[in-house]
Amino acid sequence: MNLSFENIRKTYLTLHGRVDALKGLDLEIADGEFFVLLGPSGCGKSTTLNLVAGLERPSKGVIRFGNQIMADADRNVMIPPRNRNVSMVFQSYALYPHMNVFDNIAFPLKIARNPKDDIRREVEKTAAVLDITSLLDRKPGELSGGQRQRVSIARALVRNPSVFLLDEPLSNLDAQLRTNTRAELKKLQREMGITTLYVTHDQTEAMTLGHRIALFHQGRMIQCGTPSQLYDQPINPFVAGFMGSPPMNLLPVGIREQGNQISLLLNHRAIPLPDGKKPLLNRLSGPKALMGIRPEHIEIASPKGDFVLSGKVRVKEPLGREVIFHVDVDENRLVVVSDKQDYGVDETITLSFAMDRIHLFEPE
Ligand SMILES: Nc1ncnc2c1ncn2[C@@H]1O[C@H](COP(=O)(O)OP(=O)(O)OP(=O)(O)O)[C@@H](O)[C@H]1O
Ligand SMILES: [Mg+2]
Repeated sequence: MNLSFENIRKTYLTLHGRVDALKGLDLEIADGEFFVLLGPSGCGKSTTLNLVAGLERPSKGVIRFGNQIMADADRNVMIPPRNRNVSMVFQSYALYPHMNVFDNIAFPLKIARNPKDDIRREVEKTAAVLDITSLLDRKPGELSGGQRQRVSIARALVRNPSVFLLDEPLSNLDAQLRTNTRAELKKLQREMGITTLYVTHDQTEAMTLGHRIALFHQGRMIQCGTPSQLYDQPINPFVAGFMGSPPMNLLPVGIREQGNQISLLLNHRAIPLPDGKKPLLNRLSGPKALMGIRPEHIEIASPKGDFVLSGKVRVKEPLGREVIFHVDVDENRLVVVSDKQDYGVDETITLSFAMDRIHLFEPE
């Protein structure tokens, strides 16, 4: 089932005034897509999900499933949640504590008055997919967090929904379990082909799971695209800083134009801008910019590279396979990720990077 949002706004009226949770969202999600809503706390992710589920009404705009209107604020159309064939998984697993796993998973089918034999068959099939067959007789209280989360996913999937909604489903799990469950979810979604909206504030989760990601900030969608589009072509410093860890370095630079030659001015040096990067100049309103360079694209003590800088190591964070160096280069602090381990704090090192790795943004 494909979904569309047309100029969706959501305003909450509270005792303390208006909260504009969504400020005009236009978005189309394809049938079978794994779509991730990403962004910091309060940016409107859960609101978007709740609007799709029918738990909230839009203040403005139209939501469609296929050609069918689910909500239209102007015409006062609102299809109730039970008629949308949508399943939702919450961060808190929200299982019924007094029912065993079988009955928890069976619950939506019982409500829909399916025949008993069908219910048993569907529950067993879904439990097998999620590898929880051996747990069917247990109560939620007798399960680990990861097992509970799988039960809640099973309960959401057993109805064979047209749209699958997950709101930060992995955030209560430890790191190991989160990685495993993430991989399972991805496989499951691919096999079942259900259109999925997945909410997270974790950019790694978004990058690994999503066919596409929409990054939100303060009620607006800032950029929407494939994981590599957001990582390789961030449209502004917010996206650049949010995607990737540690975040992209941003340095103030000047732009100098002499005839056909355009150069970046940094630390009293002028470096020619390669032709491939010239389109980025269209974003700039004047001769000043923020130059972005990712920590993993800076090399230490490498003779190649267009830009060579010298700096002093201030902090060294060993991660095992690689090290994060915080390096002072004149008045700027650069973060560098490198597998070259043997530089120490206070040591002066040479940094370099290729100009085809840089980004340019309008200074804020
Ligand atoms: N029922 C409500 N009444 C009033 N304001 C609300 C309500 N629900 C959400 N908001 C406000 O709307 C904005 C968006 O909230 P939303 O829950 O969509 O954020 P989120 O992106 O899911 O954040 P988080 O990552 O913290 O869950 C916030 O400013 C929030 O305070
Ligand atoms: Mg939320």
